[in-house]
Amino acid sequence: MYKFAVFGNPINHSLSPYIHNQFAQQTGCEISYDKLLAPVNGFVSSVQTFINQGANGFNITVPFKLDAFEFANELTLNAKIAGSVNTIKIKADKIIGENTDGTGLIKDLTHNIGIKLKNKIILILGAGGATQGILFPILKQEPNQVIISNRAQSKAVRLAKNFSKFGNTCSISLNKIKHESVDIIINATSASLDGRMPNIAFSVANNAVCYDLMYGRQTPFMNWAKTNHAKMISDGLGMLVEQAATAFEFWTGTKPDTNKVLNNLRR
Ligand code: ATR
Repeated sequence: MYKFAVFGNPINHSLSPYIHNQFAQQTGCEISYDKLLAPVNGFVSSVQTFINQGANGFNITVPFKLDAFEFANELTLNAKIAGSVNTIKIKADKIIGENTDGTGLIKDLTHNIGIKLKNKIILILGAGGATQGILFPILKQEPNQVIISNRAQSKAVRLAKNFSKFGNTCSISLNKIKHESVDIIINATSASLDGRMPNIAFSVANNAVCYDLMYGRQTPFMNWAKTNHAKMISDGLGMLVEQAATAFEFWTGTKPDTNKVLNNLRR
C-alpha cells in the first residue's frame, strides 16, 4: 500500500485525491491519498511528520513549491531548471524533488489537444513561477520561438536570457504586443485568479491556440480569446490531470490512462 498526499494552503479545493484514486483503481495499485493543510510557516514540520508515518511521496501545491524545492535532498533536472518542486518521492533516506507541471502541459497540448509545438511561435504571458516551471519542457519541443511577456518587463527579460541556452527565447513588454503573429498563447499569469485579463492587443489572439493554465471556470483570458477569434481555447484541467499522471508514474512506475479521468472531471 502506497502512502501519498498533497500539501497546500488552502487545500480543500484540491482535485488531486480524486485523480490519484482514479489512477489507482485503473492500475490496481493500492494507495491512500490525503489532502493535508500545512500552516503557511509550517511546511517542513508538516511534511516531516508525514514522512515519519511512512509516506512514499507527496504532491505540493500553492504556496509551498519553493519550500519543497529547498526541502528535497536530490532534484531531477526538470525540478532544478524549474526552480520549484510539485512532487516528492521518498526512497530510503532520499527525498527526491521533481516538477511535473511542464511535462503535464506538454502532454495535454500534444496528446489531448493534438497540437505540435515544433517550429511554432509561442507567446507566454507572465514571468513568475508558473512560467519558469513550463519553459524548459516547452523549449525541448523545439518551437521556432518563445516570446515571454510580462507586466514587469525586467522579469521577462531575465527569464528569456536565462533560458536562451535551451532554445530561441525573447521578451517583449505586454503593452508592446500588437502585431505579433503567434501560433500559441499560454496565459501563465495569475491574473485569472483575480478575474482579470493581462492587458494586450486583441489582434494577437486571431487564429492562435489559446491556453490558460487555470482551470475550474471560464477565465477572462478564455473569454478574450473567444471574442478575438482564437483557433482553439483550453483551460488547464488537462494539464492538472497529466501532471498528476506523471507524478503517479514517477512514484509507482505505472502509467495511468488520463483520458478517462479527464472525461469524468469534465462531466
Ligand atoms: P505563479 O507562481 O502563479 O507564476 P507568481 O510567481 O506570483 O505566481 O507570478 C504571477 C505572474 O502573474 C507574474 O508574472 C505577474 O506579473 P508581474 O511580475 O508584473 O507582477 C502576473 N500577473 C498577475 N496579475 C496580473 C495582471 N492583472 N495582469 C498582468 N499580469 C499579471
